[in-house]
Amino acid sequence: MKKTVRDVELKGKRVICRCDFNVPQKEGKITDDIRIRAALPTIRYMLEEGASVILMSHLGRPKGKPNHDFTLQPVAERLSELLDKEVLFAPSDTVVDDSVREKAAALQPGEVMLLENVRYRAEEEKNDPGFSKELADLAELFVNDAFGTAHRAHSSTAGIADYLPAVSGFLIEKELKFLGEAVEDPKRPFVAILGGSKVSDKIGVIENLINKADTILIGGGMAYTFLKANGCAIGSSLCEEDKLDLAIHLQEKAKEAGVALLLPVDSKCGDKFAADCETCFADSEAMPEGCMGLDIGPKTITRYTEEIAKAGTVIWNGPMGVFEFPAFEDGTKAVAQAMAESDAVTVVGGGDSAAAVKQFGFEEGMTHISTGGGASLEFLEGKVLPGVACLQDK
Ligand code: 3PG
Repeated sequence: MKKTVRDVELKGKRVICRCDFNVPQKEGKITDDIRIRAALPTIRYMLEEGASVILMSHLGRPKGKPNHDFTLQPVAERLSELLDKEVLFAPSDTVVDDSVREKAAALQPGEVMLLENVRYRAEEEKNDPGFSKELADLAELFVNDAFGTAHRAHSSTAGIADYLPAVSGFLIEKELKFLGEAVEDPKRPFVAILGGSKVSDKIGVIENLINKADTILIGGGMAYTFLKANGCAIGSSLCEEDKLDLAIHLQEKAKEAGVALLLPVDSKCGDKFAADCETCFADSEAMPEGCMGLDIGPKTITRYTEEIAKAGTVIWNGPMGVFEFPAFEDGTKAVAQAMAESDAVTVVGGGDSAAAVKQFGFEEGMTHISTGGGASLEFLEGKVLPGVACLQDK
């Protein structure tokens, strides 16, 4: 168990807190502020406890140079509205400079400021000790609440903990609780739903969950590599030829472990990869030439939703089809709906699946939707997240 903000004295302390404010924007306007909202409980708590709070985050990938397309200024404004409190923005191209140091030093208990995008500095992603120390020197305590970036060993997520006592915020605590309990102490049957386009992206998760889940439901583009490995005709569906042996190996491992690994029995296909393509349905045994599987089919939806209805815990990572095209959204939508309607503990592993749940309006029905894409994936692979490992144990 890691120490949290509850376990340390905050009164009168200058605290530097890493958040994941990497939010989507269109024409300078934030289009989804869920990650900012997710950081509010920790920020409010630290302010109420009498800390002076210095926030930091990355936004996008400005490649280690100042680039005002990636400024955190809009985040400071949105945060200010949500907190109903002034958030002082420190717009430095070097993130830390004398003026930023002065502002940080002058910050009073109950006041909050936000640094500029830490990825304006090339040292950030190199986890450079010099930059870690520059950030650390602004404060007396490091709080990491950036779950979405906890899989990165960067100066602001991990390196800084070499220079300051380090604890987690409430968001990291919550993510570790829900993702951790779902994987390590699940209410059974434990059903894992894995989708997405490539087997190669999900090898680690499948291998890890084979030792923990009772049933694994495979969907998305990666299903066709499994089907081809099993001798099915897959038309022009996506296939990773160099992963066919692996697909066989994973199925053998599942069998040895007594885990049911289910593949789609049918698909909704298109004649090309386009929203306006000609569509048809095909059984996995007999997909015609020229057909491309772009979603799980109705028989698979029935089979998979039955498994979800019986589950005690469901973890979902990766869409069942190309849900961005309305013609191929049914599988992903049905899985989201079945999860939202089930009594099971339901955990959505961030990224595309979280976006789908939001798009189809099933957020309320889920036990937990992770704010991490890559981070939740690495967590489900059983990897140690550097942004968590660097925090003090209880
Ligand atoms: C994310 O959006 O997954 C996190 O903010 C991490 O961003 P990154 O992939 O650019 O490190």
